[in-house]
Amino acid sequence: MSYAHITGWGMSVPKKVLDNQAITQMVDTNDEWIVSRTGIRERRIAGEDETTASLATQAALNALETAHLLPASVDLIIVATSSPEHTFPSTASLVQDRIGAYRAGAYDLSAACSGFIFGLNTANQAIRSGDVNNVLVIGSETLTRFVNWKDRNTCILFGDGAGAFVLQSSEIPGGILSGVTRSDGSGGDLLILPAGGSFMPANFDSVHNELHYIQMNGREVFRFATKVMANATQEALRAARLSIDDVKLIIPHQANQRIIESAARKLHISMDRVMVNVDTYGNTSTASIPIATCEAISSGRIAPGDKVVFVGFGAGLTWGATVAQWSGPIVPKPLILPTHFRFLARLRSLLLRLTRRIEGVIWGRIE
Ligand code: ACO
Repeated sequence: MSYAHITGWGMSVPKKVLDNQAITQMVDTNDEWIVSRTGIRERRIAGEDETTASLATQAALNALETAHLLPASVDLIIVATSSPEHTFPSTASLVQDRIGAYRAGAYDLSAACSGFIFGLNTANQAIRSGDVNNVLVIGSETLTRFVNWKDRNTCILFGDGAGAFVLQSSEIPGGILSGVTRSDGSGGDLLILPAGGSFMPANFDSVHNELHYIQMNGREVFRFATKVMANATQEALRAARLSIDDVKLIIPHQANQRIIESAARKLHISMDRVMVNVDTYGNTSTASIPIATCEAISSGRIAPGDKVVFVGFGAGLTWGATVAQWSGPIVPKPLILPTHFRFLARLRSLLLRLTRRIEGVIWGRIE
């Protein structure tokens, strides 16, 4: 029987910081309102040279380095994102090429802010089935590129960034203990990016009417979120045969401090057992849980053996939770570091492109 252990973690955020004060120059709002209603003080904004794939690539390499795993050993890459670089190719394929994970299959997962949880639960099932041994699950976003900076209801909330976990199979019991993955499409209109898909391809009217930006019914999303966060946590704990008292730390989706506090109240736990960093990054969607995890580890709030719960919600509507026993690296440090693979991966990608060109010329001539 294989268990899926979380053996590596990494994050990458843009350099540019946008604080609440800067937003007051764009819309009618103020720092006091934003902090009291959301807990957010600042967020990161991707620069011109930073994209969903570039942030994902750096987070993935950092996670592989923590796990002591080379990209060549990765079997599967799942990129959970709501801001993919393109409809196709998948952002996961771009990451696969850039890190040189030449044995890996790669695909994107679309479940809005619940995407990282859905990715973890999917990776757990793939490892448990015996199909794969080493999986990269990445949450990466540049959602601020889909934010209407004239809409004060949404522009205060979102930030950019990426986080990644490495999951590895082991016969030793532990790792991911249970997962809950749920959807309710009847609430799809509550949080939506109307244009840009096949239903309404981007055109002059869609841009003119600002339909290529995020639209949200904040109050309804808030009500939904406060309902599902505690329920999903309890359901996942029951499936793992654990109680809330066994849990060292809850790492929730970082959307709003008040939603997180409401979930903690319903679970009857104090806030010192809940990870919160929404103040510094805002809502980074699929990236928020792995980024919060990296910061929880670096501040010593989780150690190997601890039980943790990841729980989130998002557009769709979607929600879910994952219970895990914290692991850490299970293989010794390699001589070549995963980050060194970046140069080798670029070389390999260039050679593949060149070979494809040469083959094209040869076959073209024959035809
Ligand atoms: N600054 C000042 N006033 C504002 C702002 C702002 N930035 N935004 C809204 N207001 C006003 C409203 O216009 C409203 O005024 P009115 O009463 O005159 O109409 C008033 O403040 C109260 O508005 P509410 O919407 O009731 O404010 P609320 O307390 O619900 O907070 C918020 C709004 C922060 C958006 C909250 O509803 C929320 O966090 N909802 C959940 C959003 C969320 O988590 N979305 C991400 C989901 S994850 C994913 O998949 C991407």
